Amino acid sequence: MTTASPSPETTGHGVAVVFEDMHRWYGPVHALQGLSIDIAPGELVALLGPSGCGKTTALRALGGLDVVDQGRILVGGKDITNLPANKRNMGIVFQAYSLFPNMTALDNVAYGLRLRGMDASTRKKKAQDTLDLVGLGDQARKYPHQMSGGQQQRVALARALAIEPSVLLLDEPLSALDAKVRRQLREEIRRIQIMVGITTLFVTHDQEEALAMGDRVGVMSAGRLEQIAAPAELYDRPKTRFVAEFVGLTNRIPGVAGNGAVEVLGARVPLLPGGADRGRVGALVRPENIQLKPAETGSAHVLAVSFLGSLCRAQVALSDQTIVVAQMGAAESVGLYPGAKVDVGVMPAPVFAVAD
Ligand SMILES: Nc1ncnc2c1ncn2[C@@H]1O[C@H](COP(=O)(O)OP(=O)(O)O)[C@@H](O)[C@H]1O
Ligand SMILES: [Mg+2]
Repeated sequence: MTTASPSPETTGHGVAVVFEDMHRWYGPVHALQGLSIDIAPGELVALLGPSGCGKTTALRALGGLDVVDQGRILVGGKDITNLPANKRNMGIVFQAYSLFPNMTALDNVAYGLRLRGMDASTRKKKAQDTLDLVGLGDQARKYPHQMSGGQQQRVALARALAIEPSVLLLDEPLSALDAKVRRQLREEIRRIQIMVGITTLFVTHDQEEALAMGDRVGVMSAGRLEQIAAPAELYDRPKTRFVAEFVGLTNRIPGVAGNGAVEVLGARVPLLPGGADRGRVGALVRPENIQLKPAETGSAHVLAVSFLGSLCRAQVALSDQTIVVAQMGAAESVGLYPGAKVDVGVMPAPVFAVAD
C-alpha cells in the first residue's frame, strides 16, 4: 500500500497505527500490560491517564526511543517493532524546553532537514514555510530565550512537522504553559493537525485537554487501556469504574439498584452496563445532571455558589453528604445563595454505579 507522507501542502495522507498487545517491563515494574490500540489514518488519539500509567512508555515505543518486550507496532500496515528510531520518520514534541538554545527558531526547525541531507536553500524555505504554518513566520530570527513558552512549543511543533513525519507524537506538550496559553495552543495544534491530516498520538494527564482535542480519547490505567471512545461517548457512557470516576467531575450518591435502573434522590435512572447493578450502590451522577429548585420547604440547602462564566456550580448539603451541582447560566442560579433551601432532582441520563 502507499503511505504518502503528509506535508503542509498535501492534506489527508495519514497512516494507520496499530499497537498490538504491547508489554514493557522495567525490572519488576510492568509498565505496559498488554496495550492494544488502533489509530485510524489522520486521527488524533489522546491517551489520557494518571501519572505513571504508561502513556510515555507507549509513546516512546512508537517513536522508537524505547523497545517493547512483547507485542507489535504497525505503521501503515508495516511492522516497525524492531526498526531503529532514525528509520521511523516520527515527529515528536515533548513537554517543554527541548529547543536548541543557541539556534534561532528557523535553524531549530531546519535542523532535522539538515540531518536528512537537504540542501541549505531548500531547507531554509521549508523551515520558513513550516514556521508560517504555526503562525510564527515573523519570529524566524529569534532565539528560544527571546520567545514565550507557548511560542517555543510552536517552534517545537514546526520542527516536528518540517520533516514531514508519518506520525506526530506529542507528550504533554502543553503541561508547562499557563492555563490561557494552554487552551489557545491546544486549539491551534488541533487546527494544524486537521489541516495537515497527520495521524497523531497525543499524551496527557489533563482530561479537559484530552476531551477537547481527541477524535477519540483512550483512557489508560496501570499499563492497560480501560476504554477508547469519542469524547462525548466516553463522558456519557463510561464502561468501567475507573473511567467513570477519572473522567469528569462526578458525585457519588447512595441509591438502590435493580432491573437495570437505580433509585437515587427520589428519581429512577437507567444504569450503564459494567458497574454494580443490584442492591445498595453508589450512583455516579454528573453535576450537570442534577437540578435544583429553590423551595422554602426544600430538604437540602446551598453551601456555596461559584460563578464560572457560562455556568455556575453550587455545593449543596443533603441530609448526610455534600454534592456538586452545575447549572447553565447565571440566570439559572437566581435564588441560589448560601443558606437557600432547595429541592434536588436527578435527570434521567444513564449513570454508572459502584458497589456501596
Ligand atoms: N526508564 C525507566 N526505568 C524504570 N522505570 C520506568 C522507566 N520509564 C518508566 N518507568 C516506570 O514505568 C511506569 C510508567 O511510566 P510512564 O510511561 O512514564 O508513565 P506516564 O507517562 O503515564 O506518567 C511508571 O511506573 C514508571 O515509574
Ligand atoms: Mg509521561
